[in-house]
Amino acid sequence: KKIVHKTSATSTQHVAHQLARENAPHGTIVIADEQTEGKGRMNRSWYSSKNKGIWMSIILRPEILPYLAPQLTLLTATVLADVFDKKLGITPQIKWPNDLLINQKKTAGILTEMQAEQDQIQYVVIGIGINVNHTIRDIPEELSEKATSLYLSSNHERSITDIIQQLLQSFEPAYDNYLTNGFSDVKAKWESYGFKIGQPIHISTIKKSWTAKFSGIANDGALLIENKDGQIEKMYSAEIDW
Ligand code: BTN
Repeated sequence: KKIVHKTSATSTQHVAHQLARENAPHGTIVIADEQTEGKGRMNRSWYSSKNKGIWMSIILRPEILPYLAPQLTLLTATVLADVFDKKLGITPQIKWPNDLLINQKKTAGILTEMQAEQDQIQYVVIGIGINVNHTIRDIPEELSEKATSLYLSSNHERSITDIIQQLLQSFEPAYDNYLTNGFSDVKAKWESYGFKIGQPIHISTIKKSWTAKFSGIANDGALLIENKDGQIEKMYSAEIDW
């Protein structure tokens, strides 16, 4: 497998998009020690300080329909959760769609970007950011309420290269299983780590905001909620508060 390592990058997503446009093969990995313009979901920035965490992007060329790409994000979240749980001894929760929480604070995030034409995916870039060895001083003040690191939540410094290796080793069989057997194993695993499943959550869309029960995820990866009248609704792009 091809791994591209940069000591510094604007964003491993940028590097990966560029490589993908130049026909980099499926499975190409881009890793940076630091990012100067790390990107989060919803146009937010992602704080990525040098040698403190894992800042990595994976190029995939899956033969699935574009509307199913969100399943890959959920798949990636379950792979991270399993590595935390089974290899690092820290059981995380996944906040829909794909934040990894430890003690209700965010430790890792995933950003999936896709290039598609008509009904065909050209490539997908899955960006993974994990706060690993941040001490309290390494986390910006304004994030300290909401963010943590593996170190801060377990008092244990960890090898970044070991975790990368474990991630890549776990990703491959999980991805193959998803392609051959479909989404059902991913869905079950996601729900086993799911944060607030069966509990009330606060949902906001452009039009309104209300409270409903989080009942799980649908077969296409959408959020399933149960409204007060007992009706089940599928949500694709709401903001969720807890
Ligand atoms: C989020 O939770 O908002 C997603 C964060 C994704 C961050 C990773 S770090 C590696 C890759 N490069 C980026 O610029 N972003 C992703």
